[in-house]
Amino acid sequence: MKNINDYDKLDLFDQFFVKFPSFLPMNRSYSRVLELGPGLHPRSLPNRFFPIERYLAIDRDQKSIEQCKMLFSSPSATFECVDIAQYLPEEEFDLIIDSSVLHCLESYDIWLRTFQNFSASLSDGGVMIGEMAVKSDRMDFQEPYFYDEQTSILYKDGKINRLILDPKVVEKALLFCGFKIFFFTIPLGLKVIFDDSRDKIKAEDPDVLRYVVVKDRSNRY
Ligand SMILES: C[S@@+](CC[C@H](N)C(=O)[O-])C[C@H]1O[C@@H](n2cnc3c(N)ncnc32)[C@H](O)[C@@H]1O
Repeated sequence: MKNINDYDKLDLFDQFFVKFPSFLPMNRSYSRVLELGPGLHPRSLPNRFFPIERYLAIDRDQKSIEQCKMLFSSPSATFECVDIAQYLPEEEFDLIIDSSVLHCLESYDIWLRTFQNFSASLSDGGVMIGEMAVKSDRMDFQEPYFYDEQTSILYKDGKINRLILDPKVVEKALLFCGFKIFFFTIPLGLKVIFDDSRDKIKAEDPDVLRYVVVKDRSNRY
């Protein structure tokens, strides 16, 4: 998956961790961090802006986890190979990072349940930041992709590839999970290209949603 960003050259996480703190709520600590599906690219560990006392990264890809362990070894960092859909966090975190991971889940129900599980592990006032593919107005796919409008599932060669939700559904789910929305935007010209052979974006490609939400226990619907 490629993100083509005509809007600005920084990705969401560079906005947080390079230009920190322009996009994060201030006056709180971000010392306990949970990163979902870092792959080979943990977003927050190399940051220079706030001290991390506890860092947990979970990814189902064993190879990525082994690589991360080698590259980012530290007494405060733990890397676990698990399926996030099966994972119930046992600790409290101040910051949860979802960089294009939760949209890999296989259905809206699993996505919502997983979101709720992670939201429950945030401290009051804790923050979740994320980036995900979302449905665009003229979204359309060519073979070998097929998008099922009913389930919001994108198939590739008949197999589930991504969940591409309507951003209004995501907004409702975030509020339902008890989050206060701090930042929620679909940057103009920022698209996801699923087709590896193409570099130029099309109006038919999915959009990208970037969000920052704050856990607010008084805000449950
Ligand atoms: C698109 S990559 C994003 C990698 C990285 N976060 C980034 O921004 O570059 C998705 C990552 O999520 C992991 N992943 C997808 N589904 C997962 C699941 N159910 N449980 C755990 N990890 C998962 C994949 O192994 C992969 O490392």
